[in-house]
Amino acid sequence: MHLLTSFILAVGILSSAQAALSGYAPVPATCPGTPLVRNATGISTSESSYISARAPLASAALGAWLKKVNSAFSTTNLPAVALTTSGGGYRSLLTGAGVIQALDSRDSNVGTSGLYQGLTYQAGLSGGGWLLSSFAGNNYPTISNLETTLWTTAFAESLLVPDNLEVGGAYTQISADVLAKNAAGYPPTIVDVYGRLLAYQLLKGPDGGVAIQLSSITGFSNFTSHNVPFPIITSTNVETSTGVCTPPNNTVIYEFSPYEFGSFDSGVNAFTQTKYLGTSLSNGSPTKATCETNYDNLGYILGTSSDVFDELCFTFPLVADVPGILANISAILAQTHTLTFMDEYAIYPNPFYKYNHSTLVQAQSELTLVDGGESHQNNPLFPLIQPARSVDVILVNDNSADTSGNFPDGSEIYQTYMQAQLAGLTKMPVIPPSATFLSEGLNQRPTFFGCNDTSKITIVYLPNYNYTFPSGESTEKVEYLPSETSGMIANGGEVATMGGNAMFPTCLACAIAKKTGDTLPAACTSCFSTFCYN
Ligand SMILES: *[C@@H]1O[C@H](CO)[C@@H](O)[C@H](O)[C@H]1NC(C)=O
Ligand SMILES: *[C@@H]1O[C@H](CO)[C@@H](O)[C@H](O)[C@H]1NC(C)=O
Ligand SMILES: *[C@@H]1O[C@H](CO)[C@@H](O)[C@H](O)[C@H]1NC(C)=O
Ligand SMILES: *[C@@H]1O[C@H](CO)[C@@H](O)[C@H](O)[C@H]1NC(C)=O
Ligand SMILES: *[C@@H]1O[C@H](CO)[C@@H](O)[C@H](O)[C@H]1NC(C)=O
Ligand SMILES: *[C@@H]1O[C@H](CO)[C@@H](O)[C@H](O)[C@H]1NC(C)=O
Ligand SMILES: *[C@@H]1O[C@H](CO)[C@@H](O)[C@H](O)[C@H]1NC(C)=O
Repeated sequence: MHLLTSFILAVGILSSAQAALSGYAPVPATCPGTPLVRNATGISTSESSYISARAPLASAALGAWLKKVNSAFSTTNLPAVALTTSGGGYRSLLTGAGVIQALDSRDSNVGTSGLYQGLTYQAGLSGGGWLLSSFAGNNYPTISNLETTLWTTAFAESLLVPDNLEVGGAYTQISADVLAKNAAGYPPTIVDVYGRLLAYQLLKGPDGGVAIQLSSITGFSNFTSHNVPFPIITSTNVETSTGVCTPPNNTVIYEFSPYEFGSFDSGVNAFTQTKYLGTSLSNGSPTKATCETNYDNLGYILGTSSDVFDELCFTFPLVADVPGILANISAILAQTHTLTFMDEYAIYPNPFYKYNHSTLVQAQSELTLVDGGESHQNNPLFPLIQPARSVDVILVNDNSADTSGNFPDGSEIYQTYMQAQLAGLTKMPVIPPSATFLSEGLNQRPTFFGCNDTSKITIVYLPNYNYTFPSGESTEKVEYLPSETSGMIANGGEVATMGGNAMFPTCLACAIAKKTGDTLPAACTSCFSTFCYN
C-alpha cells in the first residue's frame, strides 16, 4: 500500500449531462411489493428455489465424477459440496483460478475435472471475491477464456499502477462514473474508484463492465438454468462510531449474494434485497416514494470485499507526498468533498436502520464495510457453516499470506473455528492452531478436517503451495507479466490435484462420499489415514 500524497491533480468537472450518461450512478425505481427487509430465520425463498433446482443437476454431476474416479462409489443421497477462495489479492485470484480450472470438466482433463460441475455453493472474499466476480459476472466462461481474453493483458498493465491509469481512457471514464454517483446524492469514497479500477481488470463490457450489478447475475443464462453453484461474497463491518478503524475478531460478517445482502450473525440477523441496496429504509420500510437500484454495481461490491484502506487509519488531508494510486483516487474524490477517514470505507445506507431486530446496527444510518478478511478470517466460511444452509463438504482454498514467504499457516481457518465456537456454529469441525499446521506440514498439502463426524461439515483444506511456480507472491503485487499469470494459474491447478498425486482424486472423492454414510470403496481406508486430521 502506498501512502497518500497531496491532492495536486486538476481533473475537469463534468457537466451534469455528462454525469447522467454514466451507468454507475444509482437509479430511482418503483419499490417492490415484497418486504425489503426480513429476519434471518433461514435462507431466502429465492435462494431456496435456486438450491432446489440446482440439487439434481449438482448431484448428477457429482455422481458422474465419483463414478469416473472409482466405479465402486455409490451415487445415491449425495452431499452438498462448496468451494471457497480466500483473500490474498491477485495471488489468490490466480491460484484460485487454477483450482477452479482443475475442477472444471470444460477446462481440464485431470482426476479432479468435473467436480466443479457438482458444486452447490461457491464463496469468495477479497482476491477470492475478485475471482468469483470475474467468473460469475461474465456468466461463467472458462478460466482459460478469462485468461486469454481479459486477465493476461489487464494484469500486465494493471490500473492500480498510476502510470497505467489512462489505458483505454479508463481514468477519465471512472472519474465521470464516481462524479455521477455523487450527483445522484451518494458521495463516493476511495472504494468507489478502487472498485471501478478493479472492474476494468475483471469484467468484460464497456467501461469496465459498469453495467454489471451483483443482482444482474440472477438474469444470466447459467444462473437461470441453475448450471452453477450459488455465489456468495463476504465483507466485514467496522463500527466507526466507536472510534475504531479496523474490525475486531468477532465483528459481524456480511454476505452479498445475487439475491440478498445481510448477515446471520447476532446483532444483525437480517437480510435485504441486493437489487435495492442504496434505498433509504427505516424499520424495514422505504422512507421515500421510490427505491434505489444500481447501487449493487459488481465492481463496487468486489471493491467492498477487498477494501483494506481502513488499515491506514488516517485522517485526511495528509501532508505526505509519496506518489501512488491513492493520490490519483483522492484527486477525483476531492472534487466532491473534503476527504475524511470515512473515505476509507465502503458506504451503504443501512438497510437495517431502526429495524429493532438488528440490535447492533439499528442506530446507524450507514454501514461502513471493509475487506472480508479484516477480522483474521481470510476464508469466506461463515455463510456456509450456518445452520440455515445445507452444506456437507467445503473445499477451502486458502491463499493467505500468513508466513514471511506469503503462504498460509492455518491461522485464518483456526480463527474461523474459534469464532464459530463463540457464535455457537457447531457444524464447523475442529481445526488445530497454526503451530500444528506448521509442525505437521498441514499448510503444505491437502488435509481433511471433520471426516469422521457426521454432525460436522468436512473441510478439505487446499493451501497454496509452490508446486511448479513461486506462488508466494506479495499481496501488494498488482502487476503480473503474462508468464506470471499463466504460471500462477498452472500452479493453482497443482494445488487442487496435490501436484498431480495419483491417489488424491480418489481420496478427495472418499472425503465427499463419506458424508453419505454409504459403503465406500476399499481404497478409502488408506485415504482417511493419510488425509484425515480427525
Ligand atoms: C454457461 O453458458 C455458456 C453458454 O451456454 C456455456 O458455454 C458455459 O459452458 C456455461 N458455463 C457453465 C459453468 O456451465
Ligand atoms: C485476533 O486474532 C489475531 C489473529 O488470529 C490475534 O493475533 C489477536 O490476538 C486476536 N485479537 C484478540 C483481541 O483476541
Ligand atoms: C496520478 O497522480 C500523479 C501524482 O499526483 C500524477 O502525476 C498523475 O498525472 C496522475 N495520473 C492521472 C492519470 O491523472
Ligand atoms: C420491535 O418492533 C416491533 C414492530 O415492528 C414491535 O412489535 C416490538 O415490540 C419491537 N421490539 C422492541 C424490543 O422494541
Ligand atoms: C423479526 O424479529 C422481531 C424481534 O426481534 C419481531 O418483533 C418481528 O416480528 C420479526 N419479524 C418477522 C416478520 O417475523
Ligand atoms: C518452493 O519453495 C521452496 C522453499 O523455499 C524452494 O526450495 C523450491 O525451489 C520452491 N519451488 C518452486 C517451484 O518455486
Ligand atoms: C475414524 O473412524 C474410524 C472408524 O470408526 C476409525 O477407525 C479411525 O481411527 C477414525 N479416524 C480418526 C482420525 O479419528
